[in-house]
Amino acid sequence: MSRRQVGSSRRAGSFPFAGALHSKSRSSPLLSIGLVLVGVILLICYAYRGSGIFRGDKEAVSRVEGDFSCTFEVQRAIPVLKKAYGDSMRKVLHVGPDTCSVVSKLLKEDEAEAWGVEPYDIEDADGSCKNLVHKGIVRVDDIKFPLPYRAKSFSLVIVSDALDYLSPKYLNRTLPELARVSTDGLVVFAGYPGKQRAKIAELSKFGRPAKMRSSSWWIRFFVQMSLEENETAIKKFEQAASKRSYMPSCQVFHLKSYH
Ligand SMILES: *[C@@H]1O[C@H](CO)[C@@H](O)[C@H](O)[C@H]1NC(C)=O
Ligand SMILES: *[C@@H]1O[C@H](CO)[C@@H](O)[C@H](O)[C@H]1NC(C)=O
Repeated sequence: MSRRQVGSSRRAGSFPFAGALHSKSRSSPLLSIGLVLVGVILLICYAYRGSGIFRGDKEAVSRVEGDFSCTFEVQRAIPVLKKAYGDSMRKVLHVGPDTCSVVSKLLKEDEAEAWGVEPYDIEDADGSCKNLVHKGIVRVDDIKFPLPYRAKSFSLVIVSDALDYLSPKYLNRTLPELARVSTDGLVVFAGYPGKQRAKIAELSKFGRPAKMRSSSWWIRFFVQMSLEENETAIKKFEQAASKRSYMPSCQVFHLKSYH
């Protein structure tokens, strides 16, 4: 059950009614009053559909299915990334919403150092996440501005979801920043077009709806930014993924750092 299907069936349900309202309102006053009432109810439903009242259980379902976000996908991909990047996974920066979950998972790996940048507020974060922030391992930072790290501070930078919320104007600044602070590469996890994952209730937090771009859009953008794809990493990642029958549910791009 994908969110897209749910959304489109709801639209298909409400607009034909609106058409019936217009064509039949002349025939019988009672019928038209009834139809107006139905219309009002539909409008109320439509107005409330973003508020979470009609979304709550669907969210729970998608969390369980793992169809929640590309940040969740990063956690699933860690063993495959380790195979593809080997020693370059020693000093990782993850950038994206819910970064605490990725950082805690990376810190459980042997000899791994990990940091995180959380682009949005973390008021609802749990205690262990607040602890990571307190220790300075996770920082809450607006990624539209330069990152507070020196060039080549990390071996690998992994970014998930966050870029989907940036317009090209800000991507133009943020993407080079991510490449600047890494030495062995930048891995981008982006949503597939047509898979709208954003929780409508959280849109105010993200500022704008996510824009899921096609892989050809991203690749054109990387070329504009003089960011090259790392063919070795792509090949190793694909090999490790097929060995584990791992199918990412997000687009994964492997880019070289700026040198
Ligand atoms: C982003 O940068 C590229 C090249 O540096 C440029 O061609 C493009 O117009 C820029 N886009 C925006 C929206 O600023
Ligand atoms: C390409 O990826 C490999 C890991 O597969 C990494 O060791 C190497 O440093 C990367 N090359 C560049 C230029 O980033």
